[in-house]
Amino acid sequence: MSDPIIVLEEVVKEYPSGETSLRVLDGVSGGFERGKVHVIMGESGSGKSTLLHLIGGLDTPTSGRVLLEGQDMGALDEEALAAFRQRDMGFVFQMHYLLRECTSLENVLLPAYMAGLSFSEAAAKARDLLVRVGLGDRMHHYPSQLSGGERQRVAIARALVNGPRIVLADEPTGNLDERTSRMVEDVFFSLVREEGATLILVTHDAALASRADTVYRLEGGRLHRS
Ligand SMILES: Nc1ncnc2c1ncn2[C@@H]1O[C@H](COP(=O)(O)OP(=O)(O)OP(=O)(O)O)[C@@H](O)[C@H]1O
Ligand SMILES: [Mg+2]
Repeated sequence: MSDPIIVLEEVVKEYPSGETSLRVLDGVSGGFERGKVHVIMGESGSGKSTLLHLIGGLDTPTSGRVLLEGQDMGALDEEALAAFRQRDMGFVFQMHYLLRECTSLENVLLPAYMAGLSFSEAAAKARDLLVRVGLGDRMHHYPSQLSGGERQRVAIARALVNGPRIVLADEPTGNLDERTSRMVEDVFFSLVREEGATLILVTHDAALASRADTVYRLEGGRLHRS
């Protein structure tokens, strides 16, 4: 591979389970090429979210290494990791974790404001993204006033507001209908085309997978390129 932005070296993840342990990832190796869309598929429980968390530095492998631009994530201290996450990464979790007491607009603009933009600049970016995910008329709704798919789209807009170089998304279109899914995908894909971002998407959605540059399958604790 010419230019991997993320490299996995024999990544093992075990969870304690009673007397023994459960080996979810059994030596995952490989690279994710920069500026491409990578899709990871696999059965429920196969370890997709676990792998995404390791790539994002939200959890640490039992053994093996995750390298980002050649840098061992395991060697970064908590502060460096946090800075890296805020600056370079966008996460879309399986659970959306929106702030309940903030509107859609506030939820999306907050990371941009925290990264140093003025309030009005952050709000302008947030508005633009919310329009692009089809929520132009839901800016002032609170999460409790939104449907599941609408919340998911707010979370996606929030993940993208700082123009991350790496986007990790866990079933980003899981709650969305066909038309809305394609709209959300277009927002993701434009980030790749316009900003050269690298996307790693976990999905069960075959239509989304068909648009990806590479498709992997997580099976038996290993990542297989399909
Ligand atoms: N903190 C934990 N402690 C113990 N076991 C865990 C923990 N987190 C995940 N597991 C187990 O690891 C396996 C992989 O979980 P993971 O969430 O990565 O699956 P997944 O592929 O994302 O599944 P889904 O498609 O259902 O989201 C599951 O069998 C799960 O029960
Ligand atoms: Mg999962």
